[in-house]
Amino acid sequence: MALERTFSIIKPDGVRRNLIGQVLAKIEGAGLKVTASRLAWLTRAEAEGFYGVHRERPFFNDLVNYMTSGPVLLSVLEGENAIARYREIMGATNPKNAAPGTIRAEFAESIEANTVHGSDGPDTAAFEISWFFRQTEIFGADKR
Ligand code: CMP
Repeated sequence: MALERTFSIIKPDGVRRNLIGQVLAKIEGAGLKVTASRLAWLTRAEAEGFYGVHRERPFFNDLVNYMTSGPVLLSVLEGENAIARYREIMGATNPKNAAPGTIRAEFAESIEANTVHGSDGPDTAAFEISWFFRQTEIFGADKR
């Protein structure tokens, strides 16, 4: 199986509650490598563009307000089957439905403050990575 990249955000609730280390430990424990990472406080335009596919959803405005409410950790992850693997360890979007041991089951406060975001497919991963990182900022297996 080929190496794959996915995009991760530790959301404002995760950063605010000092959970960066615990979330990254789960990511690395699952065999995924952090190949780029930085803290950022998203602008409204950055959050609206990033979540553009949800623009028509009733929760869009609340989602953008929430994602711009404090700093987040943006990261690119790399590994075998990284997109599905990260979704597996994140758990379901709604923490009430998240499997035991997953990041959201352990840490999420609500469907909105659900601690992490991960890409849902190859096209979204490519778009989301390029929304925040240049190729020269990503240190994957090709550069190590
Ligand atoms: P995320 O994976 O970042 O993608 C979109 C986000 O919208 C999702 O996680 C949730 O945090 C948030 N959200 C808020 N309300 C809902 C909802 N009713 N259904 C799906 N996602 C929601």
